[in-house]
Amino acid sequence: MIFRQLFDAVSGTYTYLLASRRGGEALIIDPVLEKVDRYLKLMEELDLRLVKAVDTHLHADHITGLGALRDRTRCITVMGEQSGVDVVSMRVADGDRLGIEGLSLDVIYTPGHTDDSYSFVLPDRVFTGDTLLIRGTGRTDFQNGDPRAQYESIFGKLLRLPEETMLFPAHDYKGDTVSTIGEEKRFNPRLQVKSVEEYAALMHGLNLPNPKMMDVAVPANMRQGLLQEEVARRGWAVSARDIEGMLTAGEVVLIDLREKTERERHGCIPGSLHAPYPALSDNIQPGGLLHELAAGGRRQLVFYCAYGERSAMAVQAAQEAGLSGARHVQGGMAAWAVGQGRV
Ligand SMILES: [Fe+2]
Repeated sequence: MIFRQLFDAVSGTYTYLLASRRGGEALIIDPVLEKVDRYLKLMEELDLRLVKAVDTHLHADHITGLGALRDRTRCITVMGEQSGVDVVSMRVADGDRLGIEGLSLDVIYTPGHTDDSYSFVLPDRVFTGDTLLIRGTGRTDFQNGDPRAQYESIFGKLLRLPEETMLFPAHDYKGDTVSTIGEEKRFNPRLQVKSVEEYAALMHGLNLPNPKMMDVAVPANMRQGLLQEEVARRGWAVSARDIEGMLTAGEVVLIDLREKTERERHGCIPGSLHAPYPALSDNIQPGGLLHELAAGGRRQLVFYCAYGERSAMAVQAAQEAGLSGARHVQGGMAAWAVGQGRV
């Protein structure tokens, strides 16, 4: 496995780059906007293709690199389903698996620091975001934080991982880079409590100042989805309401870009063809499945995904590949489900 721990000294943030091999797919956890050029250079040097960029939660102390990485690599942006961020491409839930070529991370919902905090687990290591830090825990006094939920996340989930599991947090301000679950059980001063009440009292008594960047970072991190407006401006969007009529008329091939797990959980628009987003660049080249389907302009490709984000990127890529009829369903499956009265 290729594993890199990268550091942003301004915010004390750790960013993790993962891949199973040189020349393969990569995933990045908690990227920082100002470091995006560095990540891209490193991935170029290691011959990696970024396919997923993940935030463990909505950060208050730095601006996320998710939007910039999406714009520059067309990667999938990932957060938890509780996230209030306007558009991320893919939302995960407790018990999901988050995969790239050769690697699969278990997704666990670990609220408490925020109500959208997640941890990601590989067999020998866990990425804990700000839920569990090295000899500390993430504050619980803003962003819907809740010390009781955090206690459950830590004691009920993270500390149940094998003791030798390496722990990689989203932050450290003391210079520590890695710990283990067993080490934190024994030496983390915040975990030496006898009850959830004792933990909540400890967290309530911290009286921390707000992070310096909070007023800038939180609003900026809430708005990552500017892409769909641009795609609509170019006339490449169709509304969820119109799609049924187009399908009935046989004018279009509707392409579902989501992953299998998303289809299983949320269903799909009847009559659509499944062609997951990570394989898109192959599929739209001459000889590829989607290229052949659209060849000669006989049928129009209409992409959709969960929220319209991946499909907006797919339209841009398809247009660049010469498929000038390509469109996408604005707002994705979520907008379609509203129209169907499903939500
Ligand atoms: Fe945080």
